[in-house]
Amino acid sequence: MTADDMKKAVALAALEYVPDDTPIGVGTGSTANHFIDALGASRIRVTGAVASSEATAARLKKVGIDVLDLNATGTLAVYVDGADEANHHLHLIKGGGGALTREKIVAAASQKFICIADESKEVKVLGEFPLPVEVLPMARSFVGREMVKLNGDPELRDGFQTDNGNLILDVHGLSIIDPVELESTINQIPGVVTCGLFARRPADVLLLGTPDGQVRTVTRQD
Ligand code: 5RP
Repeated sequence: MTADDMKKAVALAALEYVPDDTPIGVGTGSTANHFIDALGASRIRVTGAVASSEATAARLKKVGIDVLDLNATGTLAVYVDGADEANHHLHLIKGGGGALTREKIVAAASQKFICIADESKEVKVLGEFPLPVEVLPMARSFVGREMVKLNGDPELRDGFQTDNGNLILDVHGLSIIDPVELESTINQIPGVVTCGLFARRPADVLLLGTPDGQVRTVTRQD
């Protein structure tokens, strides 16, 4: 079973968490794309979806799901998205696709966050995947220097602009022992829009696809 097959399996499994007749939130990336396709092909009738990126909005429209404005929906019942890394507290690193800020907003505005990923994304300590940080263009170098002070090695994502018109610094070399504290520390640096740590608002349920075709469910303990 390939990683893509595992992503498809968890995308299908996530449908169980989607109620009828209500708006939901949808993330960005290849796993989220499988979820969009599965939702479009299912009998579930959501009233529409808030997209975490322009790419997700386009894919939702393609499968016939209305794209909604978060300002008009209020709190969403559920948010479904992938991740780049997840620990056993269901703290995540996200932003490999550069959509971290809108993803964080939609996750925060949702009652339940269902994270879907193949098993390779499960880690003991976050940080092997470089931490994406969205920065305002004028603050790029300043934020980079601040990342070095935190023992990180920042790299500008070459030729990439976020949907919000900003830049991404991918910060290598961080061993993230306290994700909640580091998320706050980085987010308080002037010029940072947000970092890709999802620890203050972690996932509630993590669905992990395994090589034998099964889906392992991890539920967050409060
Ligand atoms: C996009 C993300 C994605 O969820 C993350 O990069 C995982 O992507 P994929 O499902 O393609 O493995 O955070 O900003």
